[in-house]
Amino acid sequence: MDLFTPLTLGALQLRNRVVMAPMTRSRCGADAIPTHVMVDYYRQRASAGLIISEGIAPSADGLGYCRTPGIYTAAQVDGWRAVTDAVHAEGGAMVAQIMHVGRVGSALNKPVGSETVAPSAIRASGTMYTDQQGMQPFDEPRELSLEGIAAVVEDYRTATANAFAAGFDGVELHATSGYLPAQFMSTGTNRRSDRYGGSAENRVRFVLEVLEAMAGVDGARRVGLRICPDNPFNDLHDDDPQQTFDCLLSQVKELGLAYLHVIRFPNGRVDNLALGRRYLGDRLIGNESYTFDEAQQAVAQGELSAVSFGRNFIANPDLVERWQRDLPLATFDLSTLYTPGAAGYSDYPRADNT
Ligand SMILES: Cc1cc2nc3c(=O)[nH]c(=O)nc-3n(C[C@H](O)[C@H](O)[C@H](O)COP(=O)(O)O)c2cc1C
Repeated sequence: MDLFTPLTLGALQLRNRVVMAPMTRSRCGADAIPTHVMVDYYRQRASAGLIISEGIAPSADGLGYCRTPGIYTAAQVDGWRAVTDAVHAEGGAMVAQIMHVGRVGSALNKPVGSETVAPSAIRASGTMYTDQQGMQPFDEPRELSLEGIAAVVEDYRTATANAFAAGFDGVELHATSGYLPAQFMSTGTNRRSDRYGGSAENRVRFVLEVLEAMAGVDGARRVGLRICPDNPFNDLHDDDPQQTFDCLLSQVKELGLAYLHVIRFPNGRVDNLALGRRYLGDRLIGNESYTFDEAQQAVAQGELSAVSFGRNFIANPDLVERWQRDLPLATFDLSTLYTPGAAGYSDYPRADNT
């Protein structure tokens, strides 16, 4: 068994175990609709065993970064349909990563009338890029009411239904990197005194409700979860991430999800991969700075079912073929990571230059 061995994860069929990690690339317009260059970009990378899309907002409130996509309007669903059709035409499989930023946003990057919301009204320290005014502080979020939380859970449910209508094979809940689900789970961002705050049991409730809503659309076998315990990105802090994630995963285990996608974090207080193995060891996707050899070994030894790669896919649309043929990898241009258009995005050639 190696990275090129096919794999079944729940309802997902992977022709190999080289997964493309989710990467925000800011190629939409202000309407959060996928563009033609995005169709090209994902088509070019369809030989991955599974493509996990960039983070996609379930609502206008869920948008935070400039030129990022949504999946809450008919036009957005149509745009994604063109992407999934292109990936499927190449024999690939693709899941939509549903990403609500919560407090990690700037009003300048969000549609008029949308809001920046969070479990508690605590602004993240730091700044984010806006096209209009360059780097700006994060918005002060509004604390979600109980009705507001229920509405956000419904947004995830609708986004999941929309993702299936758009032809995605599955959905992944983005629950790391300091965005809304992580804000609920962490003591530093969740000061609530109702049933969504306080104990670990209460702080993980939102994530469980969202997963149940997503699984309610067409079964848990089409739903994945992405975590990175103790990742401090976007000003996140939890007093006891081991306890929080034990509490979460002991309940997630019962849901029968397609997979658990774990970002390892060697400097953290939790051994993230060991944690993932303890609860969903038979359907674990590992991530973060894997080399081909290390990933091969992890899969061959049965430590991981698959490995996801982010940066290696940016300049190597044919990453799988390059590794199969032992060809060198290209390096990407940092300056075009988040700029509009095809340059530094869908114009990286294959090794055979086709
Ligand atoms: C440009 C860029 C954008 C990213 N956007 C997302 C995202 O939208 N959602 C997410 O979960 N992770 C995102 N990540 C993290 C990657 O999925 C991945 O965890 C990271 O690149 C480490 O994997 P690697 O060492 O193979 O690159 C992003 C990473 C990069 C480089």
